[in-house]
Amino acid sequence: MDIITVRNLKKCYGSGERQVRALDGVELTVSKGEFVSVMGASGSGKTTLLNMMGGLDMPDEGEVYVDGVNLSGLRESELAVFRRRKVGFVFQEYNLVPTLTVEENILFPLDLDGSAPEQGFLEEVVSLLGLEERMQSYPHTLSGGQKQRVAIARALAAKPPVILADEPTGSLDSRSGQNVAGLLKMAAEHYHRTLVMVTHNRELAQLADRVVYMENGKIGK
Ligand SMILES: Nc1ncnc2c1ncn2[C@@H]1O[C@H](COP(=O)(O)OP(=O)(O)OP(=O)(O)O)[C@@H](O)[C@H]1O
Ligand SMILES: [Mg+2]
Repeated sequence: MDIITVRNLKKCYGSGERQVRALDGVELTVSKGEFVSVMGASGSGKTTLLNMMGGLDMPDEGEVYVDGVNLSGLRESELAVFRRRKVGFVFQEYNLVPTLTVEENILFPLDLDGSAPEQGFLEEVVSLLGLEERMQSYPHTLSGGQKQRVAIARALAAKPPVILADEPTGSLDSRSGQNVAGLLKMAAEHYHRTLVMVTHNRELAQLADRVVYMENGKIGK
């Protein structure tokens, strides 16, 4: 069963001479529980595609379905709810809130959604990611790898069916990057989540069930 369907997705930024065709007819389907890596040169449209799948940006043409929902049919307020419940994001730069503790960062998406944490589940996620001792720490006291593990826990907290990770190891050294990518894969498998990960690292891309390549705003055959 497909959980993500992307059809003929097109997106241009800017206008006139400065117009950039970021997506030029992307077709992609991802099955429930599948782990897909997205590779491709800088500027090929990987982040743009991920943002469209996560409802962070809207296409000019084409459609994105996630878990049965057509994103173009949603109003801004509905999109905000979609983002909180259906997708967990992991970004290269972690995007933790510096004034919140690790625990508060992990709970942040649930707080935004007004939902109560499921205690047993959260404890398990925190232990799976080896963060038990750091729950009361602030982000600036953590290493890059630790910060990214917090971001992964945060992405899982609201139990979204889909995890979207944009170069999650891009700011880490190779050992820490391997560790983080391995944990991301392990957590996605353990909780039967669908994972789409953008990476420039061929070795880490191979952890996925399938690797797709973007070139000039398209996914290669
Ligand atoms: N908000 C924006 N405004 C203008 N141009 C944009 C915007 N977002 C992306 N672009 C352009 O669209 C193209 C695709 O960008 P995108 O960020 O998707 O590439 P990418 O494959 O993620 O690259 P990288 O590997 O460097 O992260 C690029 O030419 C980029 O400059
Ligand atoms: Mg990018």
